[in-house]
Amino acid sequence: MIAAPTASLNVNTGVNTSNSNSDDVRQLIERYQAAGQGHLFNFYDDLNDDEKAKLVSQLEALNVERVNRIHQKATTCPSPMLNNQSATLAPLPEECFDSVLEASKDKTQEWRTVGLNQISQNKVAVILLAGGQGTRLGSSAPKGCYDINLPSNKSLFQIQAERIFKLQQLAQQQPGAVANVIIPWYVMTSGPTRPATVAFFQENNYFGLSSDNIVFFEQGTLPCLTFDGKIMMESKSQVAVAPDGNGGVYAALRGTGVLANMAERKIEYLHAYCVDNCLVRVADPVFIGYCVSKNADCGAKVVRKNTPDEPVGVVCLRNAAFNVVEYSEIDEDVAHATNPKNGQLLYSAANIVNHFYTTDFLNKVESFEGDLEYHIARKKIKTVDMQTGDVIAPKQVNGMKLEMFVFDVFPFTERMAVFEVDRREEFSPLKNAPGTGVDCPETSRRDILQQNVRFFEAAGGKVVVGEDDIQAEGTPTLELSPLVTYSGEGLAEIVAGKSIKTPVRVHSLEELKRAVF
Ligand code: UD1
Repeated sequence: MIAAPTASLNVNTGVNTSNSNSDDVRQLIERYQAAGQGHLFNFYDDLNDDEKAKLVSQLEALNVERVNRIHQKATTCPSPMLNNQSATLAPLPEECFDSVLEASKDKTQEWRTVGLNQISQNKVAVILLAGGQGTRLGSSAPKGCYDINLPSNKSLFQIQAERIFKLQQLAQQQPGAVANVIIPWYVMTSGPTRPATVAFFQENNYFGLSSDNIVFFEQGTLPCLTFDGKIMMESKSQVAVAPDGNGGVYAALRGTGVLANMAERKIEYLHAYCVDNCLVRVADPVFIGYCVSKNADCGAKVVRKNTPDEPVGVVCLRNAAFNVVEYSEIDEDVAHATNPKNGQLLYSAANIVNHFYTTDFLNKVESFEGDLEYHIARKKIKTVDMQTGDVIAPKQVNGMKLEMFVFDVFPFTERMAVFEVDRREEFSPLKNAPGTGVDCPETSRRDILQQNVRFFEAAGGKVVVGEDDIQAEGTPTLELSPLVTYSGEGLAEIVAGKSIKTPVRVHSLEELKRAVF
C-alpha cells in the first residue's frame, strides 16, 4: 500500500494556485494527495509560470492511480518467478520445439519457402525494439547507430536495413509475388532514443529504403519510485521518468496507431527483434515459415545457453505455460541445474529476443494487459531532495524503475512455437563496452566477418589472406554486404571454384564478380 503523505513532505492545500485555472490545479493537487503523492507539489510555489504549467501538464497526463496500482502489484505480489522456481518451472519438453540444427536441409528449405511466400504477398512486417539506452555499452547514442568497426563502418541500423532490402528483392522473385514487395519496418524508440534515432535515419537517407515504409513510434514511460512507492522528481518542476521496458511495445503499438497501420497494410505476421544483435536475420523467412507452418500465434527463437551465468533469459514452462525467466531473476540452483542424462544445462533455451506474432495476437494483448507483470529494476536515480529541493546524484541505489518485459505475453499464447537456431549464425549481441571481450564491439565485428568467410567457403570459394590483412583474432577481413547475400544464398554461381583476397569489402554482386579470381 502507498502510505499517506507524511508531515515532513509538507503537502498542504495552502499551495498558491491563484495564477490561472486555480480550480483545476487545486483538484489536481487533491487528487495527488488522495493518492499519497502530494509531495510532487512541494516546490510548486517556488516555480515560475512556465515551470508551473510544465509540472501541471506532466501530472495531468500521468495516471497516478495506475502508477500506485503498478507499484502495489510489483511489490506486494512480486513476480511468481521470484518464488519457488524449482517447483514451478520445467525445462521445455523436447517435443515443444524444433531445431534448425537438427532439421534436414529439405525441411529448412520448405520453411524458408513458406516464409518467402508470405513476404512476397506483403503480409510480413518487422518490429524493432530500440528504446533501450545501452548503458552497459557506454555510448550515449542509440545502440543502433553504433559502428562496430567493420571495414565499411556500417552501423547496426544500416546492417539491418540492408537485410530488409535484400529480403524484399529475394521475395520479389517468388512466383506470384505482388508487384512491389515491401517489408514495413516499425521502429520503437523511447523518449531518450527517439530524436537521435530519427535524425540518424534521415541523415543516412533511410539506408536506401523508402521512408514511407519506416514507421517510428514511441514506447511509454513510467515514473521512477522510491522504495516506498513515492514518485521521484528529477527537478522541482519535473517528475523523474524512465521508459516502461521493452514490454511497453504492446501498449505503444496500439496507442500510437501502429496496429491500425498494420491493418491498413493487411499485415498478418510480425518479426520483432532487439537492436543489438549484429547477426539478426531480420524478417527471417525460415523462422516465419516455421511459425506459420505450426499455425503459431507467437514464436521465440532460442540458442543453446553457453554458461549458467550468461546474461540471457531462458525459455521454459512455468506451471505448464510458456515463459521466460530473465537472467536477473533466475535462482542460482535453477541456472546451474543440469540434465542427469547428458550433463548439459537443464534450462538451456536462451532467449535471443527474436519473436514472431500474428497481428491477431497483438490485437488480443489488450484483453489481458492488466494481468501482465512489472519487474523492478533498482537503480541510482538522479532526483531532488524533497525537503530542500537540492539536486542529488546518488552514489547508491536510491529508487526503482518499473519495467515490462516483451516476453511476458508468452503465458497467454494459445499456440507457441519455439525454434532453436545456430548461435554462430544468428546471435552475437552488443552489450558491453569496447575491450571487455564478451558481447562487445570486437566480438560483433569478428562474428560478422567469420560468418562471411563461412558463407564464401560454403559456396565453394577460397579465401586467400593477403599480407596486408591485419586480422583481428585471426579472422580474415572479408566483409560481404547484406546486399550481396542475406544468409549465404546466391553466392555459389559467382564464387564456386574461385578465390578472393582479403582485406576486402564487397558492397554488391557486381563488385563480387570483379573481386573474385
Ligand atoms: C534481453 C532479454 C533477455 C535476452 C537478451 C539477449 C528482455 C527483457 N530481456 O536482455 O531475455 O536473453 O536480451 O540479448 O527482453 N528496449 C526497449 N525499451 C526499453 C528497454 C529495452 O526497446 O525500455 C530494447 C533494447 O533497445 C533492446 C532490447 O529491448 O533492443 C533488449 O534490451 P536490453 O536491455 O539490451 O536487454 P538485456 O538485458 O540484454
